[in-house]
Amino acid sequence: MTALDAVSIITTKRDGGSLSGEQIDWVIDGFTRGEVTDEQMSALAMAIFWRGMTRAETARWTAAMIASGQRMDFTDLPRPTVDKHSTGGVGDKITLPLAPLVAACGAAVPQLSGRGLGHTGGTLDKLESIPGWRADVSPARLREILADPAVGAAVCAAGADLAPADKRLYALRDVTGTVESIPLIASSIMSKKIAEGTAALVLDVKVGAGAFMKDPASATELATTMVELGADAGVRTVALLTAMDTPLGRTAGNALEVAESVEVLAGGGPADVVELTLALAAEMVALAGLDADPAQVLASGRAMDHWRSMVRAQGGDPDAPLPRAAHTETLRAERDGVLTRMDALGVGLAVWRLGAGRAKQGDPVQFGAGVEMHAKPGEVVRAGDPLFTMHTDTPRMFPAATSALREAIDIGERVPDAGPLVLDRIG
Ligand code: URA
Repeated sequence: MTALDAVSIITTKRDGGSLSGEQIDWVIDGFTRGEVTDEQMSALAMAIFWRGMTRAETARWTAAMIASGQRMDFTDLPRPTVDKHSTGGVGDKITLPLAPLVAACGAAVPQLSGRGLGHTGGTLDKLESIPGWRADVSPARLREILADPAVGAAVCAAGADLAPADKRLYALRDVTGTVESIPLIASSIMSKKIAEGTAALVLDVKVGAGAFMKDPASATELATTMVELGADAGVRTVALLTAMDTPLGRTAGNALEVAESVEVLAGGGPADVVELTLALAAEMVALAGLDADPAQVLASGRAMDHWRSMVRAQGGDPDAPLPRAAHTETLRAERDGVLTRMDALGVGLAVWRLGAGRAKQGDPVQFGAGVEMHAKPGEVVRAGDPLFTMHTDTPRMFPAATSALREAIDIGERVPDAGPLVLDRIG
């Protein structure tokens, strides 16, 4: 019999011990009900940060967070459910073309998403830049949208009932320096995805300067942990490790990224965004057991049809002009050469400073703010060529964003080696 009190649980983990299943259930339940205090949970999160958790502890922690709220069930839908989750990157707008594409291939895509915090943008913030579009969808309406063969995909805000323990814990971790712990990240992501009721899941685990995980070894460990948690919970899960040293595509910022996603759905768009969309779609279609070729479905225009229905199903007008920032300023190359580096974190910071992201939960975002990238690594530039166009409603932020962007790039002599976008597959 292990001790069921907060101090014993904290000291056990602090001293490198393992927590019993009973202790984990007790502490998560007590925290959800407010009996385990924020101070105690913060201390426990810090102990876990340093000491880690075993596979059994992480699985039990995840199950306890799922049990803290409702678990959705879509097993009665006429089509297989499959979702994608990205660990977050700069310019990562992939959900926008991917969800309607996979729906057009015959799957139902229930994607419960979050808002952005810090330098990585949130999918809901991007979609909310579409006039009329609303993230709040009731469970009954969500089911209707997913069952509708002309739509089949919904991106919406997770209700308060979905893994409430994770919501409270994530807010605490955010202010106590305990975000970057593999068992805590893995259980946080997977508790929400399992509670969301998807039968299959593809994870896009980002690696590099603009990602949580800076090196392939820790990204592999995170991906493996999440794939195992999925398997333990009966959710077929595969992870792709993908590069996030350089921003994805040529835009970062809410409305700018929507416009770029629509280009992809129309058959154009930047090559890296198209490549990753198709790679993730192929995994999702295979996990859903469907026989469809995402490249051919994209080329046919059917993914665009689903996008338009999906936007309308959530109150948006797919034909309405997107918001534009009141001010723009262009940053130019200071010398001739080849762009050898564009650091995702630096660009993300600039986008955030321009007003596209938020410093704390609940802050408003500027829909039109962000950065257009006129050149990407490997491309030749001449002195005076535009490198970035910055967009904002708050032009006093231009100097701070300019310095972040100047520091984010190098212009050299030699074309850098272009590594692959998809680095590995786990599952
Ligand atoms: N995203 C989450 O949902 N949780 C984490 O812990 C990190 C990223």
